[in-house]
Amino acid sequence: MNPILIEDIRKTFKKKFGKVSVLVNSPGRINFIGEHTDYNEGFVFPAAIDKGIVTAFSKSTTRFCTAYAFDKNESYKFLLEEIIPVKNGSWRNYLVGVVAEIQKKVKNVEPFNIVFGGDIPEGAGLSSSASLENSIVFGLNELFKMNLSKSEMILISQKAEHNFVGVRCGIMDQYASMFGVENHALFLDCRSQESIPFKIHFEDYQLVLINTNVSHNLVDAAYNERRSVCEKVVSLLQIKALRDATEESLMSIKESLSEDDYQKALYIIQENIRVQKAAQMIRENNLIAFGNLLFQAHDGAQNQFKISCPELDFLVELAKEDSNVIGARMMGGGFGGCTINIIANNSVKSFTKKASEAYLKKFGIECSIYFVKLSKGTHLTHRIYQE
Ligand code: GLA
Repeated sequence: MNPILIEDIRKTFKKKFGKVSVLVNSPGRINFIGEHTDYNEGFVFPAAIDKGIVTAFSKSTTRFCTAYAFDKNESYKFLLEEIIPVKNGSWRNYLVGVVAEIQKKVKNVEPFNIVFGGDIPEGAGLSSSASLENSIVFGLNELFKMNLSKSEMILISQKAEHNFVGVRCGIMDQYASMFGVENHALFLDCRSQESIPFKIHFEDYQLVLINTNVSHNLVDAAYNERRSVCEKVVSLLQIKALRDATEESLMSIKESLSEDDYQKALYIIQENIRVQKAAQMIRENNLIAFGNLLFQAHDGAQNQFKISCPELDFLVELAKEDSNVIGARMMGGGFGGCTINIIANNSVKSFTKKASEAYLKKFGIECSIYFVKLSKGTHLTHRIYQE
C-alpha cells in the first residue's frame, strides 16, 4: 500500500498521541461477479485491492478514546461505557460500532487512540467501510491481545454495519478485505464462509475500474429492500436461503409473487450459477467466457434485480460495443460507484479516453479511471510495542 500514506499516518499519530503501538493496513475490495448473492448464502468472487485504509493505534492514558480521521481532519472523543450510534456520524459509526460489537464478545477493551486515513475513493463501491471496520477490529485485537480469529473479526465488522450503520450487508466485503490474497480472487461460499483463491492470469488483458462518480439517494434503503424481497421468497419457499432455490422451485410459487419480486429472486438464482461458472472459466483460463458472464451479470443487475443506474448502464453499453472489452458490469451494492472492465492491453488507453469523453458529454460529469492490483488482506504493517 501507498508508503506515503503510511508515513503520513505514522507522523500524524506521533504528533497527536506519541508512539505508535500497532499499525494496520486494511484493503478495499473489488468483486468480479456475484452481487447481492452473499446475504442469500450464495457465491461471490471478490478480491482485496492495493487501495485501503491505514490505522495507527496505541493505548490511551486517560479514560477517553480519541479517533482522528486524517483525510477529513475530524476528531471524535468517546467513553467506552457510553457508546451509542452517532446521528449522521459517518465514519464514527463504523468505529464505535466495531468497538460495541467487540464489547459484546470480549470484555477487555480499554481506552485507545487511533489515527486513520486511506486512498479508497468514497462512494465508489470499493468498500472503504469494510476496510475501516476491519482495520479497527484487527488493530484492537492486536493492541489488547484479544485472541480473536479473522473469522470472528469479520463477523464483528459486519454486525457493526448492521447495528450501527443500519445496512444489513452480507459478508463479502469484510471477508475479501480481511482474507485477500495477492494476485488472487476469492471464490467464496458465503454459507460455509470458506473460499478458494484463484490466481487470475490477465495476460493480454487489464483490469480497469471506471467510477461514475455518482451515488444515488436512498442506497441503503434500496439495499435493505432487496434483502427483504429475498427473505419473503425464502419464507414462501420454506427454505433456509435463496441459495437453496432453483428456477423450478421458484416457478412453483410464481403466482404468489409480483413479477418484480419473481424477477429479483430469479436473478439471485441465476447469479449464483454464473459465479460458479465464472470460477470454472478461470480454472480453464478462458478469460473470454469469464468476461461474457460479467456482461450477463450486468444485464441481470440492470433488468431483474434493478440495482443499476443510467450512468453505470451507459458505461457498460460502451464496453459492450467495443470488441476490445471482453467483460464489464456494475460492481458492488449498486446505484452508482464503479464498473469493472476487462480490456485488451493495447486498447486500455483508447477505450478509457473514449469512455471518459462520452460520459462527460452525456452526463456533464467526469468519470475516474482506476487501475488496481489484487492484494493481500488486512495485516500489520509494523509492530512497535511500547512495553
Ligand atoms: C454491498 C454489501 C455486500 C454485498 C454487495 C452486493 O457491498 O456490503 O455485502 O451484498 O453490496 O453484492
